Amino acid sequence: MALRPVITADSILDAIGSTPLVQLRRYLDRSDVKLYAKIEAFNPGGSAKDRPARRMIEEAIESGHIDQNTTIIESSSGNMGIGLAQVCRYYGLRLICVVDPNAQPQNVAIMRALGAEIDLVTEPMQGDFLAARLARVCELLETIDGSYWPNQYSNRQNPKAHQLGTIREIDEALWGQMDYLFVATSSTGTASGCRDYLRKHGRDTEVVAVDAEGSVLFGGVPGRRRIPGLGAGRMPRLARGQSFDHVERVSDLDCVVGCRRMADREAILVGGSAGGVLESIRAMQDDLAGKTCVAVLHDSGTRYLDTVFNDQWVFESLRCTRDEIHQRINATVDGHCPADAA
Ligand SMILES: Cc1ncc(COP(=O)(O)O)c(C=O)c1O
Repeated sequence: MALRPVITADSILDAIGSTPLVQLRRYLDRSDVKLYAKIEAFNPGGSAKDRPARRMIEEAIESGHIDQNTTIIESSSGNMGIGLAQVCRYYGLRLICVVDPNAQPQNVAIMRALGAEIDLVTEPMQGDFLAARLARVCELLETIDGSYWPNQYSNRQNPKAHQLGTIREIDEALWGQMDYLFVATSSTGTASGCRDYLRKHGRDTEVVAVDAEGSVLFGGVPGRRRIPGLGAGRMPRLARGQSFDHVERVSDLDCVVGCRRMADREAILVGGSAGGVLESIRAMQDDLAGKTCVAVLHDSGTRYLDTVFNDQWVFESLRCTRDEIHQRINATVDGHCPADAA
């Protein structure tokens, strides 16, 4: 067994990035597709969002938009909120996170534990909680002197963080030899940052944006989505005009099946969007023979134990029983369960 050197970091923020790229030899049914997973759950805040959270705050400090007296205000109940809570605590900055009743209690608890103040919006605005949260952010920005909104959905430092980190690390690890890159989308910061790096470096890697059914990105039809972090209910400014080589859409159930299959085959717990990314690759696997593919997996399954990994939640939300999930996990790409053939 090869021993890895112990790496020291100057601070917890310096431990962001350099996440492992793990080869998945069992997830697909074909051994002639070389598949790697960039496991972003290894970031200290537990997700890919640590990277843009750090970059947005540090860039604003460097450019003089933030000082010790600034209050940071953001609307996020998920990974970005946790990433910002970590960075703000480190720099001793006050952070107010605006959340709504759909926020996962565990995420809110983590933000609080890292010192963030939680501002709960209780009433939707014309039926829309996102609109209500954004209205509250504007109200807080107006009433709190010297406040600052990083706004991950329009901040160019969001894709930049992935350009400088996520994709550079992948590209260097594989010596530029990568045919396909699969990335889940919401703000599109991760996917566009990765694509821009690849184009700048003359790579002909095809970038596949994996979006949710029910997301409005890429001309999608709005609909109910239950997997947090994947897709968008309204068009983010960063996403306007973005195009990728392919767009694949996944259902909530695809995400569940991908997470369960990943745990079953590879002994890795990944979050909902990662399950969707993996299932989109499995659906395409017959077209990927002989190719090297990379999946960016945004977060860990440990934050989805009450949802994606909970049979009762899956049944109540998606009307799929435990047995049906098992069949789907083991089905071949054309939808046949191996047991059917026996
Ligand atoms: C779990 C998860 N997956 C995917 C994404 C999409 O990343 P991006 O906003 O960079 O498009 C996010 C963003 O919040 C996320 O939290």
